[in-house]
Amino acid sequence: MPGQNTLFERFLAPFFSTFLLDEQALRRLKESVDWQQETERLQRSDLEYPNYYRTSPFHGIKDGYLTADAAVTYDPITQYVLPPGEAIVRQALIDAVQVSPQRILDLACGTGSITLMLKQAFPQAEVIGIDLSPYMLFMAERKAKQANQQIQFLHLDAARTELAEASFDLITAALLLHETPPAVSQSILHESYRLLKTGGEMLILDGNQQTLRSTPWLTEIFEEPYIKAYADGSLDSWMGRAGFGRVQTSTLWWIHQITRGVKPLDDSAAVVNQETVNQEHLPDAFQPA
Ligand SMILES: C[S@@+](CC[C@H](N)C(=O)[O-])C[C@H]1O[C@@H](n2cnc3c(N)ncnc32)[C@H](O)[C@@H]1O
Repeated sequence: MPGQNTLFERFLAPFFSTFLLDEQALRRLKESVDWQQETERLQRSDLEYPNYYRTSPFHGIKDGYLTADAAVTYDPITQYVLPPGEAIVRQALIDAVQVSPQRILDLACGTGSITLMLKQAFPQAEVIGIDLSPYMLFMAERKAKQANQQIQFLHLDAARTELAEASFDLITAALLLHETPPAVSQSILHESYRLLKTGGEMLILDGNQQTLRSTPWLTEIFEEPYIKAYADGSLDSWMGRAGFGRVQTSTLWWIHQITRGVKPLDDSAAVVNQETVNQEHLPDAFQPA
C-alpha cells in the first residue's frame, strides 16, 4: 500500500529530514506564501484533473503534487536524487537539442528547472511551461522571476493542452513519463506530436527503462505508482506509435535516458499509428487509470 513500508518511507525519508533538508527554511518559505491566493490566481477553474493524478500519492506525499509541501520540498529533494548531479543530468537534455527553436513547450514543468535552463540556452525563444499543479507552477514562476527571465507558466494537462496545433519547434518532458500510466503517456506523446511543427523535435529525459527493468530495487525506492509499467514499456515504440520519426534513446549515466524524436515531413505514419492504437486490444497496464 502506498505510504507504508517502502524503502523510501522506512529509510530515505527520515534520512532526508534529519540530514539533508533545512526544515526550518522550508517551513519559513511555505509560511511566507499565501497559497490560496496564488493557486487561485494560477489555476484554471475548468481544468479537470485526470484520475491518476488525484488518486496517486507520488513520492508518498498525500494529495501528491497538489500541496504546498510538495512544491517547497521538490527542489531540495531533487538535487539529491539525480546522480551524478542534478545540474549535469538536466544540462544533458539542453545539450541534446538539435533544432534552433523559436517556440518551446516544457511539459509538466514542475518547479521550472528545465524551463528556466531552456530560456537561458535559447534567450530569443518564447518559452512556455505547463503543469497540472498550481503549487508547482507558483514555485516555477517565482524561480523565473528571481532569475529575471520571461517565461509563461500555464495550468494545463499535457495530454490535452488545447494549445494551437503545429505551434512549437521543441517540446520537452523531464521526469514525467515514469509517473503517468502508459495510456496517459501515449496520449501525451500524441498531443506533443500534434503541437509540434513539421521538423520539430521532442526530447524526453527520464529513468532508463532498461536499467529499471533489470534492477527492480530501483523501482521500489520511491513511491511511484506507475514506475514498473514505465520500466516494462519502451519509449521508442510509444514515440513511434505517436508518429515520431528518427526516434533514438541514449543512456545517460546508466540510470537515466534521453529519448529524441522528430515530427517527420510526411506525417501519414501518425494517422496509421493512431488508428493502430485505437484498434489494438491494449493490455491492462495500458488502460487509462
Ligand atoms: C517529477 S515532477 C517533474 C517536474 C519537472 N519536469 C522536473 O524536471 O523537475 C512531475 C511533474 O509532472 C506534473 N504532471 C503529472 N501529470 C501531468 C500532466 N498530465 N500534465 C501536466 N503536468 C503533469 C506534476 O504535477 C509534477 O509537477
